[in-house]
Parts: sequence; structure tokens; C-alpha cells
Amino acid sequence: MKRLALACLIMGMSGIAAARAAENLTDQQLEGRRFVQQSCGLCHTKPTLTSPVFGPILSKATFAMGDDQPRKQIAEGSPNMPGFKYHFTPAQIDAIVAYLKTVDAPPAPAAAAK
Ligand code: HEC
Repeated sequence: MKRLALACLIMGMSGIAAARAAENLTDQQLEGRRFVQQSCGLCHTKPTLTSPVFGPILSKATFAMGDDQPRKQIAEGSPNMPGFKYHFTPAQIDAIVAYLKTVDAPPAPAAAAK
């Protein structure tokens, strides 16, 4: 189990390096990016190994149907994901949403590859 956690951590960090390509972020978006790197990358970054991603890739596409559902997921969590309402204030969740909306959606076939 320990080794799996470490692998997840390494995968998370390599995904985060790619996120650095996005420049011209506002202070709010930069703050959100920091929160996402700290709290979400572990489960939500594209794996560099062959394992499927644990949570879906988060990007502007996550909000295609509006903000309500993703915001609820972030606050309340699910059986597979911790809720963050005691971890982040609503303003901090705003920052996370603002940042994720700057992230381009990954090409569909790559995201679906299992
Ligand atoms: C322990 C792993 C884990 C962590 C940490 C985690 N998530 Fe998730 N997340 C998941 C899984 C798994 C799903 C897939 C849906 C489900 O099973 O609930 C998901 C789904 C989501 C969704 C819905 C996406 C969609 O397209 O429907 C959003 C939004 C989301 N997560 C945001 C976040 C944010 C923001 C963070 C960090 C603050 C975060 N998650 C941290 C595991 C995680």
C-alpha cells in the first residue's frame, strides 16, 4: 500500500509540472492552482504509468454543465472522494473553480485510454 501511495504521489507531481505551462493566471487562479496541486493532484492527474486515472481529469470541461455539480462534489465529496468543505472556505473553492476553468480539456482518446 505504501508503495502505491508513493507512486500516486510521483504521478501527481509529474502532472503538476505540465500545469506550469499555463501562464497569465490571476492571483485567484494561482491560489486555486496551489490548492489543486496540494489536495487534488493525487487522484486527479493523468497517470504517467499504465494505471487508469483514479478520478476524472479536471479541466474546463468539468464545468461544461455548469458549476453546481462540480462545486457540490468538491464540498461534499462522494464515496470515492473526500469532501473539502471543512478544508477550504467557499472563497477558496471559488479559486479552485476559477483555476480549473483555465485548464484545457485533455484530448478525448487519451483521457479514455484504460
Ligand atoms: C481520494 C481521491 C480524490 C481526491 C483527493 C480528490 N478527488 Fe475529486 N474525484 C475523485 C473520484 C474517484 C471522482 C469520480 C467520481 C466519484 O467517484 O465520486 C472524483 C470526481 C470529482 C469531480 C467531478 C468530476 C466530473 O467530471 O464529474 C470534481 C469536480 C472533483 N472530483 C474535484 C476535486 C477537487 C477540486 C479536488 C481537490 C480539492 C479533488 N477532487 C480531490 C477522487 C478524488
